[in-house]
Amino acid sequence: MSSTVSNEANFIQGDVKARIDRWIANYPEDQKQSATMAALRIVQEVNGGHLTTDLMNQIADYLEIPPISVYEVATFYSNYEHQPVGKFNLCVCTSISCMLRGSEEILEYLEKKLGVKPGEITEDGRFSIKKVECLGACGGAPMMQVGKVYYEDLTESSLDKILDGME
Ligand code: FES
Repeated sequence: MSSTVSNEANFIQGDVKARIDRWIANYPEDQKQSATMAALRIVQEVNGGHLTTDLMNQIADYLEIPPISVYEVATFYSNYEHQPVGKFNLCVCTSISCMLRGSEEILEYLEKKLGVKPGEITEDGRFSIKKVECLGACGGAPMMQVGKVYYEDLTESSLDKILDGME
């Protein structure tokens, strides 16, 4: 396949490459595309929390699949970011169960406390807010995900404690 990598340095090398290779090794040799989600997650993490078109192209090249296959996955799931985010990206679920249990109030509280709207980053670069669809933790509504952690049964005071504890 011809190279789609354009002008940026090769991102998939060293530790990033080794981590992606470990995922590729889980699948048959001709099924490298099965590592797409893992590769996106790893590259996003190492890139400081978001993806770029060039990085997605590099993943496509590395997995030997068309770039569109990577874009489709990266734009379908809410855990992939396409703009810079804060060190802590507060992903607040606003789907029905969370909405019925106060997610709008939770969002408003966060916006007021941090002085940013969804899609914005606080001046110190620490926090950003994102509205997301159901994360499958409806029993703990209202909830948010930050990195790999789910915070459930949110209240204003629990949010204060959670944010204070984020280093
Ligand atoms: S509705 Fe919020 S986790 Fe399901």
